[in-house]
Amino acid sequence: MDKLLVHGGATLRGAINISGSKNASLPILAASLLTAEDCIIGRVPDVSDTNYMIQILSALGASVERSSGTVRISCSDLAVEAPYELVRRMRASICVMGPLLARKGRAVVSLPGGCVIGDRPVDLHLRGFQALGAKVEFEGGNIILTAPDGLRGAEVDLCGTHGPTVLGTDNVMMAATLAEGLTIIESAAAEPEVLDLANFLNSMGAKIEGAGTRRIVIEGVKALHGTQHTVIPDRIEAGTFMTAAALAGEGVTLRRVCRDHLKAVTAALVKAGHRVDFNAAGDICTVYRGDDPKGCDLVTAPYPGYPTDMQAQMTALLATTPGLSVIKDTIFAQRFMHCAELKRMGADITVDHGTAVIRGVAQLSAAPVMASDLRASAALVLAALTAKGTTAIHRLYHIDRGYEHIDEKLLLLGADVQRVRD
Ligand code: EPZ
Repeated sequence: MDKLLVHGGATLRGAINISGSKNASLPILAASLLTAEDCIIGRVPDVSDTNYMIQILSALGASVERSSGTVRISCSDLAVEAPYELVRRMRASICVMGPLLARKGRAVVSLPGGCVIGDRPVDLHLRGFQALGAKVEFEGGNIILTAPDGLRGAEVDLCGTHGPTVLGTDNVMMAATLAEGLTIIESAAAEPEVLDLANFLNSMGAKIEGAGTRRIVIEGVKALHGTQHTVIPDRIEAGTFMTAAALAGEGVTLRRVCRDHLKAVTAALVKAGHRVDFNAAGDICTVYRGDDPKGCDLVTAPYPGYPTDMQAQMTALLATTPGLSVIKDTIFAQRFMHCAELKRMGADITVDHGTAVIRGVAQLSAAPVMASDLRASAALVLAALTAKGTTAIHRLYHIDRGYEHIDEKLLLLGADVQRVRD
């Protein structure tokens, strides 16, 4: 296992390219199961989550070639059971359910376990599949979906107690592309990654309208064909580096971003007293640490609200921002594992009922800390950038799940980091 040594105090400046979106790549890779023809997907980030998905597709019988960021997939013949050993490692594996059910009339996928950010139910996914006529059974820790006579279009509301479901919307939308008749998804997730998946599916011959809004209409077709597609930029990686720049930057430029996807994150950084400039095309931004940063309150919400995937990173920034800040996570109330580690570095944070109350301190102090999940680990790296001393962040594999070459990018920006064998 690797750890990352971060020597605090370096000033970040310069420019890096943001990678393709992990959370757009995963459902798009799964969607390639819907056709026997070749799909060529560009700018797939080289992170362990996309590698897991590629292993799952291969285990299902797909032939997959990867060269740098481009993945070529062809699924002429398919098995219907995703291997437990791979599925258990990544919740997003569940998004093979929809394509397998639509293409083969059957899918067997292990129930995803919970994870440190909370219980990860799939009831909304199953609600959608049942609405389309699938039978749902459970056996030996697996979900068994069958639709021997094919799927039929239906109207379904996918709103849960915490609002829309991103992968649930993806799954039902993928299944509906080959259902007979019209499907209407109400309370759909509107994340840019859902729209990117819909664009990919439409380029395969699907008939989807309304993706990116709360109401998606899918007219089923007989078959889908191969396609080529480049995934959108990773807005959470971009937000993470924007926050690093607000912490320790004197003009950090991020290329290959999408301004429209970063409105909530930009507004939060400006509210906290920092400066974010975009070029006219909106695909390059430069972030400057403000002279007078101030605490602020944030509530996470489904897109276009402030993303839960950026909650930990903002907590790290506000830990050394003068004043009182309150962050509430309405999507994952337990997503505060990073706070215990930040407190070991001297942060003043109280967490209760899905809310963190943060009193800014002058400076954190380095300490050996433990990464726990993808975004919490990123928050610890950010906190270490301005901490006094050298912070060792153990279990770096959590970060490698979703950040492509994070240490190389930080070094390019002048951070004093070192990846070492743990
Ligand atoms: C996606 O997960 C993202 N993952 C997550 O990013 C992100 O945090 C999450 O959406 C919310 O934005 C990918 O896209 C691969 P949800 P997903 O279904 O789709 C509840 C990261 O860091 N819910 O939108 O699995 C659920 O418990 C990852 O990159 C149900 O109740 O999340 C949560 O409270 C972490 N029943 C809320 O809905 C269901 O059937 C939103 O979850 C499904 C979800």
